[in-house]
Amino acid sequence: MAERETWATRLGFLLAAIGSAVGLGNIWRFPFITSENGGAAFLVVYLLAVLVIGLPAILAEFVIGRRANTSAIGAFRKLGRPGWWFVGAVGVIAAFWTLSYYSVIGGWVLRYIGGSVTGNALAAPEGYFGAISVGLSSIGTHAVFMLITIGIVALGIEDGIELATKVMVPAVVVMLVGLAVFAATLPGASEGYAFFLNPDFDVIVSNFGSVLPAAFGQALFSLSLGFSVMITYASYLGEDDSLPVDGFSIAVSNTAIGVLAGLVVLPLLFAQGIEAGGGGPGAVFVAIPTALAELPGGELVGQAVGIVFFGVILIAALSSAISLLEAAVAFLVDNYGFSRLPTAAGLGAVVFALGIPSAYDTAWLNWFDGIGVTLLLPLAVLLVVLFVGWVLGRDAIDELRTGSTSGSLASIWLWWLRTVVLAVVVIVVALNLWDLFATPDTGYYFIPSPLR
Ligand code: PHE
Repeated sequence: MAERETWATRLGFLLAAIGSAVGLGNIWRFPFITSENGGAAFLVVYLLAVLVIGLPAILAEFVIGRRANTSAIGAFRKLGRPGWWFVGAVGVIAAFWTLSYYSVIGGWVLRYIGGSVTGNALAAPEGYFGAISVGLSSIGTHAVFMLITIGIVALGIEDGIELATKVMVPAVVVMLVGLAVFAATLPGASEGYAFFLNPDFDVIVSNFGSVLPAAFGQALFSLSLGFSVMITYASYLGEDDSLPVDGFSIAVSNTAIGVLAGLVVLPLLFAQGIEAGGGGPGAVFVAIPTALAELPGGELVGQAVGIVFFGVILIAALSSAISLLEAAVAFLVDNYGFSRLPTAAGLGAVVFALGIPSAYDTAWLNWFDGIGVTLLLPLAVLLVVLFVGWVLGRDAIDELRTGSTSGSLASIWLWWLRTVVLAVVVIVVALNLWDLFATPDTGYYFIPSPLR
């Protein structure tokens, strides 16, 4: 078998990991979930969640990946704990599952770039979304999005993922900064900032039970945890990298880009007096074009801003989608010696098929999202934390220290992972299960709503 690939440079790995982390979660989900949960107060809880849970957990995935130097499922055998293979398997299945509808949303975004060029997306936002988000149209754009994702993954680590994200991540930052500067010039933008940046802690206190899991879930999803993605990416790393420094850089960049996205979306909506909340997968696709259509300066300004806005989301979504596909591709390539191109194409085709119900009807998309992000993701994180904290133990400390100077920090990290992180993740899983089964509108979640 050919020698296993590695990242060409450390920066390459960092950008690929940031590209994975920064996605629909930051630019599409984060501003909306923030506005539904009390604005700035939610932001504070989210920041706390990244620091207290996200950062230690990402280091746990890095430790598994780099030490094993192989993809997520085989990693456990390499680490001398073959019985724990299912930890990686849950993650890979979760990645596969999530990509199926992530790609459907990516397809909508693709369509909205076209809709911004022609102006149709802005002319009648609700009708446009209703037309392109279901049926054959949505299945078609889902196929195109998957094809691009497959193409990049098929090119490999260095020539595909690393090269692509080296362009994509800087592009996202530049475009978002441009949009934020533009949004700042809008009359009424300051109300958006006030909502986003002035915490109203009453909202948190009175909605504790829902704000908390929402913030922690968002932190995990947004750092690409629980999907074996960070395990896989770290498996292509060399020994001389400092994992704590890398993890910290990724967490900070990811959060900064999420905040930057908020500084675009919230002023844009508030300037036009549009309700930001209301959630649902369609929210951004209806609210934003409505705001764009009313921008001062006329239609062309709205269309131009729309092209850049949906362009950013597309790039961010693609750099996340490739990491989700890579988690599964790496497994087959590493364990069975399959070659990359047919593996990426074959798995991509299966993901496409799995996504057809979500593309056909958004009720299915909601169901897939519910199972993927509310259940599989925290469950996978729980298993990873349990494994690294209580099974790997001292080996984990060793690995974290390799390439870094943080001697005693590593011991504190392990202790923290075993206790606080584990406890919080257990609570999140429990609250999510409760929500899935006991809330009237989402209850009995295992029977998908289209079949009820
Ligand atoms: N972090 C990505 C986002 O915020 C989603 C993702 C999760 C990507 C897990 C890969 C793995 O959109």
